[in-house]
Amino acid sequence: MTAPRHIARYSPDNTAAEADGRLRSPSFERNFAPIRDALRPYLDGQAGTVLEIGSGTGQHIAHWAGELPGLAWVPSDIDPRHHASIAAWAATVGCANLAEPLFLDAAADWADDPAVRALGEVTAVLCCNVIHIAPWAVAEGIVRGAGRVLAPGGALILYGPFREGGRHTGAGNASFDASLRAENPDWGVRDLDGVAALAAAAGLGPARITRMPSNNLVVAFARQTR
Ligand SMILES: C[S@@+](CC[C@H](N)C(=O)[O-])C[C@H]1O[C@@H](n2cnc3c(N)ncnc32)[C@H](O)[C@@H]1O
Repeated sequence: MTAPRHIARYSPDNTAAEADGRLRSPSFERNFAPIRDALRPYLDGQAGTVLEIGSGTGQHIAHWAGELPGLAWVPSDIDPRHHASIAAWAATVGCANLAEPLFLDAAADWADDPAVRALGEVTAVLCCNVIHIAPWAVAEGIVRGAGRVLAPGGALILYGPFREGGRHTGAGNASFDASLRAENPDWGVRDLDGVAALAAAAGLGPARITRMPSNNLVVAFARQTR
């Protein structure tokens, strides 16, 4: 089966890397610990639920669930093949605080999904490496939905490359942006100001930025008190 063009792939034909369905992201080993450490200021000592949008292989969330066991972790993705991988990684790590993946289209009004409503207000909405490999409507949907599901003080946390002040922050990001746009004109490295404007419109506070390796950012927006 060929993946729809708007969906990122992990291998040219999305072949499962393991017999049990686990896919492997080539960047997981490199990115896992730095992202985990950048999440800690927002999640250490917290209770409640973390909803991840675009969980992909599920490697990240499966391992975060083990390292931050006080939280309930809920993966989601639009691609059913990724659901199989997420479930297989969940079985591998065996964390009781890791839920079954939800089928969510981040560009839609996912906050109205009954499975999301059943979560109640969530502590964090997490989304890594998605908004640049998807149409802008996905960024809009993620931020709009986060504004609806986050508890006051809860954070929308995004990880990936961003332009700042309308400019790329490094040559690597500029060439990555060009390659994304060549693959799909609706994709591309997003401008932080544009995402911050979406956040403000959704009732989220100003961006708090953590600079990450390879000119990536962790960007967090806290839900303002209603
Ligand atoms: C590059 S992968 C990132 C996966 C994972 N977060 C990571 O950092 O390894 C992008 C993910 O976003 C998902 N995705 C793309 N469009 C989406 C949408 N409209 N709604 C939900 N997920 C989407 C893809 O299926 C894919 O799993």
